[in-house]
Amino acid sequence: MTSRHFNRREFLVSTAAGAAVAAFPGLALAQGAKIKVGLMLPYTGTFAPLGVAIENGFRLALQEGGGKMGGREIEFFKVDDESEPSKATDNVNRLVSRDKVDVVIGTVHSGVAAAMIRVTRESGVLHIIPNAGVGVATGALCAPNIFRTSFSNWQPGYGMGVALAKRKKVKSAVTITWRYAAGEETVKGFKDGFTKGGGTIAKELWIPFPNVEFQALLTEIAAAKPDAVYAFFAGGGAAKFLKDYAQAGLKDKIPLVGPGFLTDGVLEAAGSAAQGVETTLHYADDLKLKRDREFRLAYAKAFKLQPDVYAVQGYDSGLLLAAGLKAVRGDVTKKKELIAAMEKATVDSPRGKWRLSKAHNPIQDMYLRKVVGTENKYEGVAVKALDDDPAAMSACKMG
Ligand code: PHB
Repeated sequence: MTSRHFNRREFLVSTAAGAAVAAFPGLALAQGAKIKVGLMLPYTGTFAPLGVAIENGFRLALQEGGGKMGGREIEFFKVDDESEPSKATDNVNRLVSRDKVDVVIGTVHSGVAAAMIRVTRESGVLHIIPNAGVGVATGALCAPNIFRTSFSNWQPGYGMGVALAKRKKVKSAVTITWRYAAGEETVKGFKDGFTKGGGTIAKELWIPFPNVEFQALLTEIAAAKPDAVYAFFAGGGAAKFLKDYAQAGLKDKIPLVGPGFLTDGVLEAAGSAAQGVETTLHYADDLKLKRDREFRLAYAKAFKLQPDVYAVQGYDSGLLLAAGLKAVRGDVTKKKELIAAMEKATVDSPRGKWRLSKAHNPIQDMYLRKVVGTENKYEGVAVKALDDDPAAMSACKMG
């Protein structure tokens, strides 16, 4: 009980408002409080540009919806997660318990996301993952309140494995990546696709996240002489790897491929070292879709930057949330209806329309792309309408 005494006027106002809320619960919500959106993203460290692009994308979707979702304004609460798993539980609790946000958007790093979902599953707060591909999010730890608008780490890896195995000259590959969930899972996807098509993995090379001292590993690659190298790095680490790979004299000897994160958002920084590198991803820079052209123009105008896959994923998080909130007219207490509307939504994305699997992961085309100039040029579809790793799908006991 509060010890504060109301004066008469405050009392009348509060009881009148209370009566109105009781009679029309949506009324006060529609007219009153803002929806609280927590952004838990990396704003420092190797993934900082990815966090910024995701936030920009989300804000663009909000702006295009007239600054509101479900008729209500949005209030943002931001936390820099530093891509640091050991701080993740405290950071997400700040949003969920202290700020009492209605929805959490986050994050980029798979290890941080894994810690986040333990908290959001428990609390039931709506959680949209705008990047991190960690398999358990839509696998063993899937939950009605957890959605992903990006990919599972397995998906682009599998796409590249399938595409590469079709090349007659490519029989063996070396993989190289950071040793953490995203690295391990993208390698699994690549391996599944590549070995299914007859390829063999000559060697798996690992480096701790977020290290970028690649020299010793590049020497191992030169000695192993595989037909191709599959590498997953992203952000600042990807730009450094592309440059070191070229500088080691490997670029013209052993084709370098990867999931699209290796070349998305880093082409200016990597310069000529990235030219010709082929990757697979659910986005490309010249998809020739009207929706994408409009998005790219609007994004460039708003932020004076070219969008990348992270911007698209942030944008799609906004579209998905807006679809849910529209169905409940901004009443976030109608959790079941909100979730049902998000599950049913077709997201009209710049990457092409997509829908969610039962486990809340996008089912989407994996495009083959090639770096030409400052673009990841579309070359074709590597795998059409790809769902998640069958092992993850069967571990999800929902829906
Ligand atoms: C991840 O940790 O899941 C992750 C991070 C950066 C990417 C892709 C995946 O570009």
